[in-house]
Formats: sequence, structure tokens, C-alpha cells
Amino acid sequence: MSLKLLFIFGTRPEAIKLAPLIIKAKECGFFDVKVCLTGQHKQMLKQVINFFDIKIDYSFNLMKPNQSLFGITADILNSIEPLIEGEKPDFIIIQGDTTTAFVGALSGFYKKIKVVHVEAGLRTNDKYSPFPEEMNRVLISRITDYHFVPSKKSSDNLLAEGLRDNIYIVGNTAIDALLLGLDLIKRNGDEKYLGFFNFLDFSKKIVLVTGHRRENFGEGLKNICEALKEIKNRSNNIQIVYPVHPNPNVREPVFRILGDIQRIFLIEPLEYEYMIWLMNKSFLILTDSGGIQEEASFLGKPLIVMRDSTERIEGLEAGVSVLVGTDKDKIVKETLDLLVNKSRYNKMSTPVKIYGDGNSSKEIIDILHKGGHIGINKEEEFVEIYYRNMIDAQLRAL
Ligand code: UD1
Ligand code: UDP
Repeated sequence: MSLKLLFIFGTRPEAIKLAPLIIKAKECGFFDVKVCLTGQHKQMLKQVINFFDIKIDYSFNLMKPNQSLFGITADILNSIEPLIEGEKPDFIIIQGDTTTAFVGALSGFYKKIKVVHVEAGLRTNDKYSPFPEEMNRVLISRITDYHFVPSKKSSDNLLAEGLRDNIYIVGNTAIDALLLGLDLIKRNGDEKYLGFFNFLDFSKKIVLVTGHRRENFGEGLKNICEALKEIKNRSNNIQIVYPVHPNPNVREPVFRILGDIQRIFLIEPLEYEYMIWLMNKSFLILTDSGGIQEEASFLGKPLIVMRDSTERIEGLEAGVSVLVGTDKDKIVKETLDLLVNKSRYNKMSTPVKIYGDGNSSKEIIDILHKGGHIGINKEEEFVEIYYRNMIDAQLRAL
């Protein structure tokens, strides 16, 4: 018996983190795999789809410039209903904390279809930070049937909320994707990427920046930009590279404050392979991104997290990232310190496998496969096997 898996995603990070899982699910040969793009993102998603060569079964053309949470939520929900009615999947698989992920889970619930959540259990416990992602995660977890969590900490978060069943510690598929990307880069050779980034002088230190979070819109993003300007003025030996997210709430202040400044390069969002190549070549990364916190720790790149709170606590605890918020002076102080303080820099640039080792997709597919062989009609036996796997996985993580 083959089970039908419906992957629903719509933004860049979901595509990156689900791609290795889709590849493994297809390789396994046991599943009937369907892929639905909600269209929450457009160009940024296309870049990832092309890179991983994912076959798309359904694609909605929903993205609008400066879309509202209300609009995109309602549009995705309405578009998914007929698709699920037609496909009747056994599992809906969603990833992370976006509007697409939340609506995908809600759709599964409305149709009484089992929901599988990849990257479950992340929490800041602050309802409005990140916004709306933190609450999306909480709501998704209430609906989810199978929680694939990246770390013991995430598992503990779910246990603390009273969830007990089907929690598996498997690492983060972000690292699987990263390894696939690094492998391709190695095969391509540096020349390709040096050619692409020919406007940069690699004898100077590269400070890579991304910033796009909703809760940083306005004052926070303005502070970040002012901080970058000051960092550049106080250090001659660096170049700042900022691939700017297409959201107009990001582009407007970033280009207004940082446009046309020497040694600050505002560029278009990078295709994934170019992004990870540049991360690897960077001296330091400043970001409010979630996924980049995972990748930087694996690559051994010190990270300054420009957010008030982070759910990626493991990086802080391992001493490879530092949380500074969006206060201009703090961002400047921490960055300048890392540029000169060699012993601190060296400590923060030790690669750590705190978010996974690249085998997460395989583990997830193995677990779904074992459960799947029994057949979802034999629910009790199915749950028992899942439970046993959960304990195995937790013991391995100790
Ligand atoms: C979304 C996610 C966020 C994730 C981020 C990844 C939600 C609520 N937020 O935020 O968790 O970190 O994606 O990047 O789900 N746009 C384009 N082209 C694109 C993508 C976006 O032009 O390919 C512009 C559009 O004007 C769009 C706007 O960006 O309206 C905002 O997109 P949206 O998905 O609503 O929010 P993000 O800030 O991208
Ligand atoms: N990324 C990319 N190009 C860029 C910026 C980011 O490919 O120009 C990748 C990055 O390496 C990571 C993912 O996008 O894998 C993170 O996405 P984003 O920061 O948009 O979302 P978040 O992780 O904060 O939800």
C-alpha cells in the first residue's frame, strides 16, 4: 500500500528545508508524493525550486505586493480546499512557522487529514516575537499529529505544552539542504562564484547581512541600517553585503538609508547556492533570519542576531551566536568587537552540529515509512511504532 503525501509550502525557507525531504520521499519509492506551492512567495521561491529541481503538481498564483496577513491567509485557505478534496492525501506535510504552514495545518484539520510538522517545537514564548510566526507555531502544534523536532530543547517545549504523542527528535532538514548545496558548490568550483561576485574584494573581510522580520519593520530596521553605516565608517577593512528581501517594508528604508555608500553592497536576494557560498566566505554574519542561524553555526560563522528574542537558543548556548536586538549601539559594539577580538572570534567560529547532522530527512522518511507499511487503518499499531521510534530518537539525542 502506498501512502499519499501532500507537501504544502510557499516561502523560500520552507522550500529549502522541505526540498531534501521531498527528494528522499521520492527516492524511497513507497510514497505517492504531491507538491503544492501556495504562491505566498514568487521569485524567491522559484530560485529554490529550480536549484533543487522539484516537480510541482499544484501552484497557486497568490502573491501580491505588500500582501497583508489577512489577505494571504484567506487566499491560501480558499485555494487549498478543492485541492485536498480532489487529492485526498493521507498526510499533509508542512514546515516551520509561516502563514502557509499554519494554513496548511488548518486545512488538514478541517478535512481530518493527518498533519506532519517539520521543524516543530521552536518557541520564544513571546506571542509577538517573531510575529506572527511564534503564534503560528503554537497553533500548528495543537493541530499536528506527527511532530519532527530539531533538538531536545524543541521536544521539551512541546512536552511543556502537554503534547505527548509522536514527537521525534531528528535535527533540522536545513542542514540536509546545506550539505546538498555545499556538495554542488564543490563540484562547480570557486571560479563560478568568484565570477558572480566580481564586484567584491575578497582581500577585505565580508560582513554578510540579512534583515526582513515583520517585528523589525520601522524603527528596528532603521536602527539596523544606521548601525551598518557606522560599522562601515569605523572599519576600513570590511565590505558589507546585504541581499535585500523584496518586501517593500524592507526595501524602502534599506535603499533610502544605505543606497550609494561605498563598501556597502545592496544586492538582490541570492539564489541559495550563491548565498551559502557567500556565507562560507564571510567573516561575520548579521541577521534576523531563522534559517541562517542554523546554517551559520554549522559553517562556523559567528553570528549577530538582530532580534529581541530567538527560538534558536542552541546557538546562544553553544556560544556561536549573540543576541543583540535592534539597538544601534549594541549592534555596532558587538560587530566591532568581533572584528578585532581574535580570541572571542575564534571561539565563536567553531563549527557545531547543534541543529542536525544532515540526516534529518532520512530519519523522517524512515519513520513515516515504518508507520506507513502497517497502514493507517491499523491506527493503534501505527501509533505504537511511532512511540517506540520517538523513545529511540530521544535516547540517541541524550
Ligand atoms: C515570510 C514569512 C516569514 C519568513 C519569510 C522568509 C509569514 C507571515 N512570514 O515573510 O516567516 O521568514 O517569508 O523570507 O509567513 N515578495 C516578493 N517576492 C517574493 C517574496 C516576497 O516580491 O518572492 C514581497 C511581496 O511584496 C510580498 C512581501 O514581500 O507581499 C511579503 O511577503 P510575505 O510572504 O507576506 O512576508 P515575508 O516578509 O516574506
Ligand atoms: N537565503 C537565500 N538567499 C538570500 C537570503 C537567504 O537563499 O538572499 C536562504 C538562507 O540561506 C536560508 C533561508 O534563505 O536557507 C532563510 O530564509 P529567510 O531568512 O528568508 O527566512 P527565515 O529563515 O528567517 O524564516
